[in-house]
Amino acid sequence: MPIMRAAFASSFDADNPLAALSVGDRPEPTHPQDDWITVQVRASSLNHHDLWSLRGVGLGPDQLPMILGCDAVGTDPDGNEVVIYPVVPTPGDPRGVSILSEHFAGTFAERVAVPRMNLLPLPTGLAATDAACLPTAWLTAWRMLTTRGRVDEGESVLVQGAGGGVATAAVALGVALGKRVYATSRDAAKRERITELGATALQPGARLPERVDVVIETVGAATFDHSLKSAAPMARIVVSGATAGYEPKVNLRRVFAMQLEILGTSMGTPDELTELLAFCAEHEVRPVVDSVVPFGRIEEAFARLASGEVFGKVVVDHTA
Ligand SMILES: NC(=O)c1ccc[n+]([C@@H]2O[C@H](COP(=O)([O-])OP(=O)(O)OC[C@H]3O[C@@H](n4cnc5c(N)ncnc54)[C@H](OP(=O)(O)O)[C@@H]3O)[C@@H](O)[C@H]2O)c1
Repeated sequence: MPIMRAAFASSFDADNPLAALSVGDRPEPTHPQDDWITVQVRASSLNHHDLWSLRGVGLGPDQLPMILGCDAVGTDPDGNEVVIYPVVPTPGDPRGVSILSEHFAGTFAERVAVPRMNLLPLPTGLAATDAACLPTAWLTAWRMLTTRGRVDEGESVLVQGAGGGVATAAVALGVALGKRVYATSRDAAKRERITELGATALQPGARLPERVDVVIETVGAATFDHSLKSAAPMARIVVSGATAGYEPKVNLRRVFAMQLEILGTSMGTPDELTELLAFCAEHEVRPVVDSVVPFGRIEEAFARLASGEVFGKVVVDHTA
């Protein structure tokens, strides 16, 4: 059986996800349907989702071994450079869809199979390593700000836990959209980097100079009360993750008195990814990249993400 190199979950470890990671040979991709094709991966990027998978969140033992990775840019069989939209129709999943690496093999491999309709052209001028950051974290942040957050002219945004992949995307995109952006981080060095991106950096829990119209929440329990307190009347608190716990205490008096909206969101649509790619190419917005690691040393990329020290995205170069 033909084989390729891949990084995959071979077991689960809730406390030490890196112990559940294997790098080695896996069978070449197969096509569950006729409209699937195989893409040669050129660049991919890590998401917190990959660590959740290694912890056993969202994957069952019967799905092991599972090749990880949601994001990729690559070359299709006709030689076109393509960005992969990672949400795949999945009958049997309660959502009707799944993200690559949940039911179908992910992108941390030499090659990945996807439905042909999941391929978008790589815009001219956007490097593969930059575009590989966009399909999950940046798409999520784009939808949080626009479709779900409905951020409007003259409005302001608070981003919690601003060192993360989704959070740095929300800061950079919020600034590029011309909004007043505030961002919290526990780390002084990250706060300095946030300031360089054009946002006002704050310690977690600090009082803001104004109440904001949109809050970008991916942290959860550790920051949610501050998100509620920082929200202006009619504000939208948009939640796409809960890295620090998914059962925060919610002061409902604040929710109804300030007429707040708490909105859940996941990923985005293919049209939103097309919009985001065009926005980045047109406005020369580039992803915040923490580091680029060669595919041959992908374990180092996982260790970097797990360290909690990242500022922006950890990218994997499959051509190095
Ligand atoms: N629903 C979706 O479609 C979707 C898509 C992408 C991501 N997500 C979710 O969104 C979350 C973030 O993902 P990511 O890839 O951006 O992760 P990440 O890069 O690992 O970022 C996590 C950030 O959360 C902050 N944080 C972690 N623990 C904290 C704590 N105890 N108190 C305060 N801040 C804390 C940190 O910010 P500081 O160090 O700056 O404080 C950290 O940089 C994950 O839970 C992920 O599963 C969801």
